[in-house]
Amino acid sequence: MTDQTTPKDRVVIFDTTLRDGEQSPGATMTHEEKLEIAELLDDMGVDIIEAGFPIASEGDFRAVSEIAQRSKQAVICGLARAQLPDIDRCWEAVKGAERPRIHTFIGTSPLHRAIPNLTQDEMAERIEQTVTHARNLCDNVQWSPMDATRTEWDYLRRVVEIAIKAGATTINIPDTVGYTAPRESADLIRRLIAEVPGADEVIFATHCHNDLGMATANALAAVEGGARQIECTINGLGERAGNTALEEVVMALRTRSDIMPYETGIDTRKIMRISRRVATVSGFPVQFNKAIVGKNAFAHESGIHQDGMLKNAETFEIMRPEDVGLSATSLVMGKHSGRAALRAKLKDLGVDVGDNQLKDIFVRFKELADRKKEVYDEDILALVTATTEGSDRLQLVNLSVTCGTGGPAEAALEMEIDGREVSATCTGDGPVDATFKAVRALHPNEAQLQLYQVHAVTEGTDAQATVSVRLEEDGMIATGQSADTDTVVASARAYINALNRLLVRRDKTGKDTKEISYKDVG
Ligand code: KIV
Ligand code: ZN
Repeated sequence: MTDQTTPKDRVVIFDTTLRDGEQSPGATMTHEEKLEIAELLDDMGVDIIEAGFPIASEGDFRAVSEIAQRSKQAVICGLARAQLPDIDRCWEAVKGAERPRIHTFIGTSPLHRAIPNLTQDEMAERIEQTVTHARNLCDNVQWSPMDATRTEWDYLRRVVEIAIKAGATTINIPDTVGYTAPRESADLIRRLIAEVPGADEVIFATHCHNDLGMATANALAAVEGGARQIECTINGLGERAGNTALEEVVMALRTRSDIMPYETGIDTRKIMRISRRVATVSGFPVQFNKAIVGKNAFAHESGIHQDGMLKNAETFEIMRPEDVGLSATSLVMGKHSGRAALRAKLKDLGVDVGDNQLKDIFVRFKELADRKKEVYDEDILALVTATTEGSDRLQLVNLSVTCGTGGPAEAALEMEIDGREVSATCTGDGPVDATFKAVRALHPNEAQLQLYQVHAVTEGTDAQATVSVRLEEDGMIATGQSADTDTVVASARAYINALNRLLVRRDKTGKDTKEISYKDVG
């Protein structure tokens, strides 16, 4: 155990929700959503925001540039492959920030070296050239040897030294495929710091993936080994099993400061608010038993637990719900609550809405309060998710469904498509199938359904259902969400919402899709 009087070391939090997180298939966010998430990250005290991969698409470039211009405290970072045009494009995007950073990388393990077919010497030369180029543009340069944990030790040591000599100010050690284990993670950083000349002049960072469920443990172990920057995402969003979860490392450092005496600059009370927003805009709901931000993380339902909790909250709680921004009770308002109360409640929940959106949410809140006995914070947040844009080309007007044991289900659907009212009736294998067929009859499309997911927002048979629908068409992916006490209506709205998002992307002639993958390291 560390002496209580030891000064706390500062660990820098580098959030990559908008780059590594958004890269997760289906997690694509709109431009406005990216700006909103960046603002929330900045606001909660994230030190560095990796805002995107500017060369990947026009959409990424625009998002990184605008986030850079709007940034307040945080350093704004863009990702670039080890190629001069990538680095130039990245600099163009981040240079408007008060504190810009270029993050350039190349895959250094044998498997990754084989992709551009470079020898060790050729790759070393490329690293020297690209880091020098980046440093000539920007005085804050991060370099990453992708798949570092599967790179031969001698070669890793050699290239880290080259990057430091060429001017990198942060060296990030990625566990790209989530292969490493905690002891190894700590040892690797410790050894690099001990053996690479110049290591004491840079910050070492850890970037872990969660394929074996060890991302948080590996990141914390790397800190023990000397890393002072943790790369992470909100809710652990990311490809495959995701990245280290920001909320987990931050709360672990805070809760166990007795054995991990490191500080972060995160205002932990803002964790729930951003977690909910990221879940909504990415279309990746948080699993109920997820550490820190899961619905059950602070729920004590079993009789023994409740008894203990009533006597002393510390019996079963190692963190207080309010420390992560959960209010003591989430029971909110009834049907007599007014618009001002709703706006105040939304603000409390971290949702800022414009007047038009508030009007729409208020109408739906009143409808819900008429149908549902008790309206909770979760219900209000689901209403926000469910709000449609007035500008959407496809709108649901009316839906009635017949279903049951008596035969195939039937859905009679009325929609407004580009301002024109149309209707269709279809049968199907259950009410949702019949409804989706009716939507396709009115708006023929080739989009493939990748995900259809239903969650109850609260307890009880009158609970709202949140439905997520993920569609794929010509390589473009869009997620739609909605909520309603009627699961079939929520399903129809979520499906239509996803189709509207695909239409927006198609209208932009694919500008929002990534034209280049960060893995195309040639
Ligand atoms: O996982 C990884 O290696 C990355 C790099 C681009 C840093 O995300
Ligand atoms: Zn990664």
